[in-house]
Amino acid sequence: MPLLGLGLYKATGEGEAENAIRSAALMGYRLFDTASAYKNEIEVGAGIASCGIPREEIFVTTKIWNNAQRIGNIEKAFERSLDRLKLDYVDLYLIQWPVPGCYIDTWHVFEDLYRSGRARAIGVSNFNEYQLDDLMMHSEIVPAVNQIEYHPLFNQDSIRNFCLKNGIAVQACAPLARGAYLNRDVLRVIAEKYHRSTAQIGLRWLIQKGCAVIPKSTREERILENSQIFDFELDLREMEAIDALNENYRSASIPEDLLV
Ligand SMILES: NC(=O)c1ccc[n+]([C@@H]2O[C@H](COP(=O)([O-])OP(=O)(O)OC[C@H]3O[C@@H](n4cnc5c(N)ncnc54)[C@H](OP(=O)(O)O)[C@@H]3O)[C@@H](O)[C@H]2O)c1
Repeated sequence: MPLLGLGLYKATGEGEAENAIRSAALMGYRLFDTASAYKNEIEVGAGIASCGIPREEIFVTTKIWNNAQRIGNIEKAFERSLDRLKLDYVDLYLIQWPVPGCYIDTWHVFEDLYRSGRARAIGVSNFNEYQLDDLMMHSEIVPAVNQIEYHPLFNQDSIRNFCLKNGIAVQACAPLARGAYLNRDVLRVIAEKYHRSTAQIGLRWLIQKGCAVIPKSTREERILENSQIFDFELDLREMEAIDALNENYRSASIPEDLLV
């Protein structure tokens, strides 16, 4: 899985996802992250088809939403995603949220989708250690990925360590906290030293923690900026100074149907 990808949540304006994918592909992005809940799989599929990069070099992630898990027709939901994307396989299929009482059954169908080759890898999102343990205890295939909100204001070192110990890759979603940390002085000072933006410092901090990142932007200059994070390195003191910004701040809300 590429370490860098383009997030596509809220890229729903006309032509937005498609244009963003085409620009990003030219700049070297190869991973595109969508979900059935984002309501843009058709446009994402169009972007993938028209971006000029061979399908086999592109990594496409999509996710199953909570109501499909409750209804229980997982395979149908997966097929609908493939139809919308106009693809015959996805590279990664994720359970977007751990719906209580459902996620283990969902995972058993995911295991079949993996075995069929139509989902090249399967994983989860927003799972904590308990839920990962529960899943692994009741299934055969260990999730390839746990996609979790992770950024300087929401340090997830504990779950990251658990995942890495169990061979689960960590992919940081909302890695820019939707802009919430970009004005912090600690980050500004470090950004000035490296002639970078605070967004690039936050993304680099995640890469150095062993996480993949999927910042979202539909603006060309920011798509480019967010990709320029592989040619400098933060030192230990800088990593620790950024660690200290943690406030357990969540920028993406937990879906209402899970707040019981
Ligand atoms: N699994 C899940 O439950 C889950 C939850 C949240 C997110 N995700 C995934 O993770 C992706 C990223 O998360 P996100 O979209 O919530 O938030 P994000 O990537 O943290 O932040 C995106 C916001 O920051 C702006 N932005 C992007 N680059 C910037 C830069 N260099 N400087 C200043 N502002 C910048 C974007 O605006 P512009 O577009 O106008 O540039 C957008 O408003 C999503 O798109 C989605 O694919 C998954």
